[in-house]
Amino acid sequence: MLRGHMATAAVTLLWLGVLPLFAQNLDFSYHNFGQMEAVLKKFNSNYPSITFLHSIGKSVEGRDLWVLVVGRYPNKHTVGIPEFKYVANMHGNEAVGREILLHLIEYLLTGYQSDANVTQLITNTRIHIMPSMNPDGFEASSYLDCDSTNGRTNKNGYDLNRNFPDAFEQNTDTIQPETQAVINWITNESFVLSANFHGGAMVASYPYDNSYTTPPDNDVLQYLAQLYAKNNDKMYSGMSCPSSIGFNNGVTNGANWYKIRGGMQDYNYIFSQCVEITLEVSCCKYPDAATLQGHWNDNKVSVVEYMKQVHMGIKGQVLDTNGKPIQNAVVDVQGRLRICPYRTNKNGEYFLLLLPGTYTFNVMMLDKSMVKTITIPQSSTLSAMTYNFQFTETTSSPLPATGSCTLNGSNSSGSTLQVCLIMFFLRTVLVLLYNIL
Ligand SMILES: *[C@@H]1O[C@H](CO)[C@@H](O)[C@H](O)[C@H]1NC(C)=O
Ligand SMILES: *[C@@H]1O[C@H](CO)[C@@H](O)[C@H](O)[C@H]1NC(C)=O
Ligand SMILES: *[C@@H]1O[C@H](CO)[C@@H](O)[C@H](O)[C@H]1NC(C)=O
Ligand SMILES: *[C@@H]1O[C@H](CO)[C@@H](O)[C@H](O)[C@H]1NC(C)=O
Ligand SMILES: [Zn+2]
Repeated sequence: MLRGHMATAAVTLLWLGVLPLFAQNLDFSYHNFGQMEAVLKKFNSNYPSITFLHSIGKSVEGRDLWVLVVGRYPNKHTVGIPEFKYVANMHGNEAVGREILLHLIEYLLTGYQSDANVTQLITNTRIHIMPSMNPDGFEASSYLDCDSTNGRTNKNGYDLNRNFPDAFEQNTDTIQPETQAVINWITNESFVLSANFHGGAMVASYPYDNSYTTPPDNDVLQYLAQLYAKNNDKMYSGMSCPSSIGFNNGVTNGANWYKIRGGMQDYNYIFSQCVEITLEVSCCKYPDAATLQGHWNDNKVSVVEYMKQVHMGIKGQVLDTNGKPIQNAVVDVQGRLRICPYRTNKNGEYFLLLLPGTYTFNVMMLDKSMVKTITIPQSSTLSAMTYNFQFTETTSSPLPATGSCTLNGSNSSGSTLQVCLIMFFLRTVLVLLYNIL
């Protein structure tokens, strides 16, 4: 009898011990700024070894722009580990992505060391998650408001997705604090792959947003958008929304939908070497909280599979004769010249997202270059093929960085495109010369 009571007591105690764990589960409701901040701080304090929480700046009204980093080494970059990011809620009234990202963080943290796939992803990737780029706009928007523009802009009335320096035309907008913070952040890290969340349509949209020309990585961009859409049944079905047309297989080129100037996606791709697509994940911009669990379920596989793509292609370092990494060396892929040349980071690293196939690489310094043809195999591992370009002769300095392609977020109005086009032309000539000699 006593034993029975003790067993019951033990079970009850066990339950009491477990209950707080369940209570910790993130609820499917909207989190206002204070609640979101508390959730992020709690994630950080519950998982200190695999998270790093920092504010990359402040909004006009002084709210912190929080980013939670998840990774085996969350505090700083590790050579060979690619940097990935998700940004949501840059339009403050488009609220679903913000909650999807909070649930994604929970999924990653609770899966670490309990789900082998999640563990491997966290071990091999540094994942930056910014649930809200426009916290002031969110506070100014209204629950159940599906279509209005209340809360879309920042407090100064600027649409942040029109506020970035633009490679194709002059953007006369004054750069807003939220935009500048993101530009500084992007300059601070060598991001490889990214996506930003919106609402009001159902589609994965890829660059360019402000030009009908075909980007050099069009195959990769289409592949990525399709991968996201394919894993989201509603998006893939091409459903239309009350305020938006439907899209074939849930994907579109940005400019083919409608052109925008100063978008974040083009900025990432052109000026910061980071491939970014735009995800429109709900017809209603700020829907009933009762739909949030469904939205998470619809996007859960896509958000995880998309992150894994940061491991496609090839990565490595450019090294001098002594094995010392070379910063700012240009790594071009023949036939795929970017507007701004791809340059190695301060560790001499490059990360190029490429589909399996054979590619010729031109690695360039001021007075040296190397041409190398490499086959990238189909890979099922969560790591890109690794190849280091090592120079065998004494090398000098890398090509000088020029104008807006220096990626430092300075005011690039006016001559941006001209500078880029001149660089593009010079590089083409250099490549031709190297190949002839
Ligand atoms: C892990 O990934 C593999 C390969 O994608 C998949 O077959 C398996 O079901 C995944 N396991 C879990 C627990 O999700
Ligand atoms: C950039 O500079 C130009 C003139 O130098 C100025 O008119 C414009 O407002 C600036 N733009 C930003 C975004 O700072
Ligand atoms: C810059 O990166 C370092 C290392 O990841 C980080 O500690 C710091 O907070 C970052 N600053 C910004 C503004 O992103
Ligand atoms: C940005 O680059 C420009 C052009 O190279 C340079 O003049 C400026 O000092 C740089 N700004 C920062 C903050 O590094
Ligand atoms: Zn939007």
